[in-house]
Amino acid sequence: MASSSSSSSSSSSSSLFRCFLHFFFFIISQVQAANLPFHPRDVLPLLPRQVSWPVLNSLNSPVDLLPSFVGSVSSSNRIVNWKGACFYENTAWVEFHNKTGSEIGGGTLHIKVSYPHSWTCMDLYVFATPYRVTWDYYFLSREHTLEIKEWQDKAEYEYVKNRGISIFLMQAGMLGTLQALWDVFPLFTNTGWGENSNIGFLEKHMGATFEERPQLWFTNISVDDVHSGDFLAISKIRGRWGGFETLEKWVSGAYAGHTAVCLKDSEGKLWIGESGHENEKGEDIIAIVPWDEWWDFELNKDDSNPHIAYLPLHPDVRAKFNETAAWEYALSMAGKPYGYHNMIFSWIDTIGGNYPPPLDAHLVASVMTVWSKIQPEYAANMWNEALNKRLGTQGLNLSDILVETEKRGSSFDELLTIPEQDNWIYSDGKSTSCIAFVLELYKEAGLFDLIADSIQVTEFTIKDAYSLKFFENDSSRLPKWCNDADNVKLPYCQIKGKYRMELPGYNSMDPYVHMNERCPSMPPKYFRPQNC
Ligand SMILES: *[C@@H]1O[C@H](CO)[C@@H](O)[C@H](O)[C@H]1NC(C)=O
Ligand SMILES: *[C@@H]1O[C@H](CO)[C@@H](O)[C@H](O)[C@H]1NC(C)=O
Ligand SMILES: *[C@@H]1O[C@H](CO)[C@@H](O)[C@H](O)[C@H]1NC(C)=O
Ligand SMILES: *[C@@H]1O[C@H](CO)[C@@H](O)[C@H](O)[C@H]1NC(C)=O
Ligand SMILES: *[C@@H]1O[C@H](CO)[C@@H](O)[C@H](O)[C@H]1NC(C)=O
Repeated sequence: MASSSSSSSSSSSSSLFRCFLHFFFFIISQVQAANLPFHPRDVLPLLPRQVSWPVLNSLNSPVDLLPSFVGSVSSSNRIVNWKGACFYENTAWVEFHNKTGSEIGGGTLHIKVSYPHSWTCMDLYVFATPYRVTWDYYFLSREHTLEIKEWQDKAEYEYVKNRGISIFLMQAGMLGTLQALWDVFPLFTNTGWGENSNIGFLEKHMGATFEERPQLWFTNISVDDVHSGDFLAISKIRGRWGGFETLEKWVSGAYAGHTAVCLKDSEGKLWIGESGHENEKGEDIIAIVPWDEWWDFELNKDDSNPHIAYLPLHPDVRAKFNETAAWEYALSMAGKPYGYHNMIFSWIDTIGGNYPPPLDAHLVASVMTVWSKIQPEYAANMWNEALNKRLGTQGLNLSDILVETEKRGSSFDELLTIPEQDNWIYSDGKSTSCIAFVLELYKEAGLFDLIADSIQVTEFTIKDAYSLKFFENDSSRLPKWCNDADNVKLPYCQIKGKYRMELPGYNSMDPYVHMNERCPSMPPKYFRPQNC
């Protein structure tokens, strides 16, 4: 498992690890023989992740490796005396404060740990709200605190007041993973959602460039030049969505993190079809909104600093586009929830080729576990459902799924690589990620022609979508306003954003049967074999 993610290290370093591992087991056996109060689990946190994970795997069944939910604490809900792996008596509570003098203030999580079973052990915890995830570990019997200077926004404040901060106990061997995660991924930390962290991360880990464009940073488009089926590639670089998109871009190799599609009605009015549109209740749904409303939001209200490119269809492709069928599909999906389940499966195609370290299948399982506690109504149910579909089972929770998978002699890694089927229907109906929505609409509208039955759109990442040879390739036919505010002429029209959008591989690939069902996606090069 971990070997899949460490496969990028050279063979000499992996044999070094194997040596180290043997040495380590030797020490352990000596220690146990001498009956000293050490346990291999106690030493795990001190080892590099590449070593600790395999050892951890050999000591535990996969189910035991999942984070275990201890409880939620708020100021009114103090939790007392749960048993950790190391400390046998623990207490936690939250205290609200206003040290920054802001409107919403911050909080301190107190956690008191005592009665360790040995003097070498430690407990590792992850603390989560839907707005932040953080972690800490404790060696010493005493009261520890975790400081949250300021809540992200009113919504987090309300959430913690009502539902509390969720606490998860992790296997101590996860320490290396969490450390690695935090090193490469500032986005997970409290302060990491800023624009500069997102930009810095994408430059460093993807080789992306962020060249500033001349002001004004938006274009006045003329709706007359826009047609049904034209594509919008969107890249958000700030705030919660920015962080989420940065992760998605990094693991999938896409240079945009969100998509939408243009639709004209019979009166010539322009609408935008979008999966992942936030409604008044803060839920992400599939929506069809009038262009003016959508554009006004992106220009004036979207705090994620969206960058937007307009990708017009090639005239030959547009001629094939069945507007009636596209509208029928779009309307049938309107109001349905955003498809978290097909988002994750679109990038996991291969066992070793899709997880940049320190991510791996275990970490995916851990994230699913944490997520299922704090957003049960959202992602988790759908992930569990999606995993059940892959096993051909019903109603199993994540632990059951892991047990069942092992029983069948398979692994969680393998389970994740089974392609999503576009005709799978979930308990909340059909739901789609932003890109599955656009491509399914293309499929219904006839753009995949005769091979439509052999295309699973849920296997396409955003990069796979803009790489399709569907778009205008003759720059003289681009609308007059296309890139008029910029001194660089892109092959598509960037209509908003301070930085110039790059879409490597744009408009370069004809669709083929079973396209994108077996593609690796390893940063920073994202090598893609032909016909994968
Ligand atoms: C924090 O203090 C500021 C200034 O004293 C005040 O305006 C604000 O309402 C306080 N916030 C909370 C949550 O108490
Ligand atoms: C866009 O239109 C507005 C109002 O019609 C105008 O004030 C503005 O200068 C135009 N911007 C560009 C880039 O043409
Ligand atoms: C377009 O789609 C509609 C609805 O699915 C269908 O009735 C019609 O025959 C299609 N038109 C063409 C030209 O295929
Ligand atoms: C999963 O379901 C099993 C029973 O099928 C139950 O024993 C177990 O506690 C559940 N696990 C979680 C994490 O809910
Ligand atoms: C654009 O694509 C069409 C059809 O795929 C092709 O015939 C044409 O040569 C291409 N034009 C340019 C400028 O690349």
